[in-house]
Amino acid sequence: MKFCVTTPIYYVNGDPHIGHAYASIAADILARFKRLDGWEVHFCTGTDEHGIKVARSAEAAGMDVNKFCDVTSQKFRDLGKAIKLSNDDFIRTTEERHIASSRELWRRLAKDVYKDSYSGWYSARDEEYVPEEDLVDGKAPSGAPVEWMEEESYFFRLSAYQDRLLEFYEKNPDFIAPASRRNEVVSFVKSGLRDLSISRSKFDWGIPSPDAPGHVMYVWIDALANYVTSLGFPENIERVSEMMANCIHVVGKEILRFHAVYWPAFLMSAGLTLPKRIFAHGWWTSEGQKMSKSIGNVVDPQEIVEKYGLDPIRYFLFREIRFGEDGDFSENALRRRISYDLANDLGNLVQRVLTFVQKIGGLRVNYDFGADERPLFDDSRNLVEKLRVLMDKQDLNGALGEIWRLISFSNRFVDHMKPWELAKTNESKLDLVLTALCESIRAIAFGIAPFMPDTAGKIFDFMNVEGKSFREINVNFTNPTFKPPFPLFPKE
Ligand code: MSP
Repeated sequence: MKFCVTTPIYYVNGDPHIGHAYASIAADILARFKRLDGWEVHFCTGTDEHGIKVARSAEAAGMDVNKFCDVTSQKFRDLGKAIKLSNDDFIRTTEERHIASSRELWRRLAKDVYKDSYSGWYSARDEEYVPEEDLVDGKAPSGAPVEWMEEESYFFRLSAYQDRLLEFYEKNPDFIAPASRRNEVVSFVKSGLRDLSISRSKFDWGIPSPDAPGHVMYVWIDALANYVTSLGFPENIERVSEMMANCIHVVGKEILRFHAVYWPAFLMSAGLTLPKRIFAHGWWTSEGQKMSKSIGNVVDPQEIVEKYGLDPIRYFLFREIRFGEDGDFSENALRRRISYDLANDLGNLVQRVLTFVQKIGGLRVNYDFGADERPLFDDSRNLVEKLRVLMDKQDLNGALGEIWRLISFSNRFVDHMKPWELAKTNESKLDLVLTALCESIRAIAFGIAPFMPDTAGKIFDFMNVEGKSFREINVNFTNPTFKPPFPLFPKE
């Protein structure tokens, strides 16, 4: 059982922001879930360091480009630590292993590559060629400025892949998700594909194209190749094939086309295995506006984590909106989530049940459940199976919804069963009620573990649960001694 998940590799032209953290945390949640479910996981992230945009940023900063890349790439590594990414690899496109891998990929495309000359518009910010008819008021559709370019270039025969791609989408209806995005891609491909310029000759911050003196690769070829480099291409083809077959590329909606059209065409041409799915997520605005340096509303992930704690941010990003849609990041909305969902619902449940267990001297396990406790017990034991179905669709928001259903159910159960009264009147019933509640808290802790690893870790610790595998959920407690809990989300 092998599973691979990737984030886009981030351009090192600027500092990391919440949009970068978002894609990375999404991939991290998927990776952690699969590991807990017993899969062998490869989770890769990294930095995209070639191309005009990065070269110009280095120049503007008055720095040597290699040095500039070292410094900015490190900031993305640091972000990874701050948001607790569990990545197995961090790839830089300037690394030797990647240069070798990209060059090998290029060689394998040879039958579909020809030399010609390119003349047209290029947007350095998007690192993309813009067809004349797509210009809007002389700019790229993204609003980025374009510049005229004329040079000798190698081309990839993308036009030859139109039918094969359409056939592939048809046979693999879940290749592109969410479904609305799939329709966009299909109509783009149906409208006709042009051959793609894949080398630059008037510019040299890139990987030299093999057998093409004076040319460096178009940055997107080199960038996309990172996914197979990380899996060991070209040495370890077997691993590349096995992992790619069950690989999810998490990408932002604006780079879907590169992943869902160009990348599969390159892989088909090179005779390599295509990934299982490209999942395109939406964009975050900040306090109702597009994030921009000039407005000054760019959310710095490290700052926000310091202010509110990591787990609340990880929770908020995937609870506030459906994964795939756009959302607005606002501190008010975040505070509401912390106060209602985290402190009131989750925090209180754990606190009141485990404190009570302490008060009566520990859990006296009793699994002879009757009609009162059975539904809660069943829901707890069935939680992971429900999450599995949702996580396989990358429905992260749905998964949190499911976990919170169990939290609400548990809180209602406490209110209804009133353990504090049972303690006076019916001790054996109390044992049943608390056993069922501890079962639900343990299941909840496992459910939230991929999303909020620290919070889950605290609950596991209170309950002396190892917390390494979902299998632990199916083992009955045996009169455990728990530790006294402390509030998970203390109110300021
Ligand atoms: N280097 C390319 C990706 C190559 S992958 C083979 C790139 N890098 S990027 O740094 O510009 O963007 C990385 C990701 O950040 C994109 O997926 C993009 O969607 C995401 N985001 C950038 N701003 C964002 C928001 N405001 N909200 C959510 N995600 C956003 O593109």
